[in-house]
Amino acid sequence: MSTEHGGSADDRKRKVTTARLSEMKARGEKIAMLTAYDYSFARILDEAGVDAVLVGDSASNVVHGHETTVPITLDQMIDHASAVVRGVERALVIVDMPFGSYQGDSKLALQSAVRIMKESGAHCVKMEGGEFIVESIKRILSAGIPVMGHLGLTPQSIYKFGTYVVRATSEDEAEQLMRDAMLLQETGCFGLVLEKIPSQLAARVAKSLTIPVIGIGAGAGVDGQVLVTHDMLGINQEFSPRFLRHYAKLHDVMNGAFKQYIKDVKSGGFPNKDESY
Ligand code: KIV
Repeated sequence: MSTEHGGSADDRKRKVTTARLSEMKARGEKIAMLTAYDYSFARILDEAGVDAVLVGDSASNVVHGHETTVPITLDQMIDHASAVVRGVERALVIVDMPFGSYQGDSKLALQSAVRIMKESGAHCVKMEGGEFIVESIKRILSAGIPVMGHLGLTPQSIYKFGTYVVRATSEDEAEQLMRDAMLLQETGCFGLVLEKIPSQLAARVAKSLTIPVIGIGAGAGVDGQVLVTHDMLGINQEFSPRFLRHYAKLHDVMNGAFKQYIKDVKSGGFPNKDESY
């Protein structure tokens, strides 16, 4: 029997693995991925039936309040990831390797990935970049740790590019992205995130690769979608790029609840008799 999510009821209970994501691509079933950084959000996402939970380094922005993803540390990512793992029963948990934990040194990259896997219990890691991080990816894969790639807008390189505009709009950059995507697949990545690139290019990449391609701001022609949960819930009102759909207005809901609570405390209306011992 198929369910409202697509797939059989048994499928909805089975743990999601990297192999299952490949099977989903092969049968044309879209992959739904969202970010989480703590136990409670992870639990709600998993109960809702999301296929993959990304412990994104976007935690640097939406949890820690930094302007970029550069400052978040490996220890902080491991803390977020362990909390998320405790909230998830079914979804695949993917953890972003933070800036400075893998670039330019494949031995450091392996140490960082091993710490993430051992200390958090997560299932795999994600890394930003193409050709220049292939040695690090190979070493991590050699330890049996699955790796997801991330191309297009790569926020950890913000100081190289200077802006968060759409990437790979020139033919040269598009061809380089295509080559990097093929290279990541050949190296053994189980999947790829494409961020903020033209939808035609993203669709071409997804069609050319056998591994699942998950888009954010990359149009509908890819194998799945990912959004930052705080953004799609409308918790951060200031961030409203074209690719973002708001599925709720949680800022307003939370603001209203907090204001009501303050009013009730100040007026002595909370707690009442029933709420007291
Ligand atoms: O850190 C993150 O949340 C991400 C997604 C935007 C793909 O990498």
